[in-house]
Amino acid sequence: MANTPADKKASGKETVFSGIKPTARPHLGNYLGMIKQAVALQESYQCIYGVVDLHAITKPQKPEELTQNTRDIVLDLLALGIDPERSILFVQSHVPAHSELAWIFNSITPISWLDRLGPYKEETAVNSQLNQVGILDYPVLMTADILLYKATCVPVGEDQLPHIDVANEIAKRFNHLFGKTFDPIKPLLTEAKRIMSLAEPKKKMSKSGDAGISLGDSADEIRKKIKRAVTDSGSEIRYSPGAKPAVSNLLTIYGELSGKPVADIEKMYAGKGYADFKNDLAQVVADYFADFRARRAELQNDRVYVSGVLADGAARAAAIADKTLKEVKAKMGFLM
Ligand code: AMP
Ligand code: TRP
Repeated sequence: MANTPADKKASGKETVFSGIKPTARPHLGNYLGMIKQAVALQESYQCIYGVVDLHAITKPQKPEELTQNTRDIVLDLLALGIDPERSILFVQSHVPAHSELAWIFNSITPISWLDRLGPYKEETAVNSQLNQVGILDYPVLMTADILLYKATCVPVGEDQLPHIDVANEIAKRFNHLFGKTFDPIKPLLTEAKRIMSLAEPKKKMSKSGDAGISLGDSADEIRKKIKRAVTDSGSEIRYSPGAKPAVSNLLTIYGELSGKPVADIEKMYAGKGYADFKNDLAQVVADYFADFRARRAELQNDRVYVSGVLADGAARAAAIADKTLKEVKAKMGFLM
């Protein structure tokens, strides 16, 4: 019965790793870009998922918020279907090897690979106070996250592609300097690799503001937000991201959550207006997350179960991570 992570590894299946930051409750973009595929991949891969709190502190957070956000994301992931029987779910800071391997990779990473990256440049341009070393170095820690598990498949949204490129460069350089250790990493993208803001469809949906649908929103809040979502000029419900960015974004969301091809949805609304379309979409989104909200409410009362999951996840993650770290250190000549 090949259904534990160890069995899957033994059967030659590739390893999947992904991380999500405990900054605020996940939004629809996080769900459709990353979490939905993370859940589906559990069927056939060894999956390891980290709540990456060491990444979250690159932007200032109050201590009590970091604790609460970490608890919240763990509950969200469990309620959305990350299954600790099939996958490893853990909190990044519980496995010290992440910080240690990141430091080691710092020694082989030129600053020029990091300071040219779009996400770094954009964030520091918006807020110059964010210009800490941690923000610059973020992709090196992300590389350590992935390579500690020798993961080759990484489900992410499109914004993470530059970071995956850096991870592959660091892996190549390590292999070149110290001998073949790491295989190339493939990013796994979905059709919903970039869900846009409901208020400004040229910007991606993010965790700040209410231009996004948070998984913490009630069915009523979801309906209100979808009804308020901006639309494009002209009344046609047609997928055309260039000409109709707002409606195309809503069609992507509708398609991903209903399982219907976008072309079929276009036909369903031929000759109808935005109001009908948005009413139905609001219902689709609210219904889709109804089970999630119920499961999450149950889990929230089961602190013992959740801490058990995290203790077990950290132990299983550390067993793999420590082995890789040891191999890296031996290859580099650290006295063992
Ligand atoms: P974060 O909340 O930044 O840790 O992001 C977690 C995952 O969600 C990453 O894989 C991101 O690429 C993905 N993601 C974030 N925003 C979006 C979005 N608007 N559309 C699709 N994927 C996204
Ligand atoms: N950088 C990712 C984000 O902002 C989160 C992340 C950290 C991650 N480590 C990772 C994603 C490793 C994939 C693999 O969303």
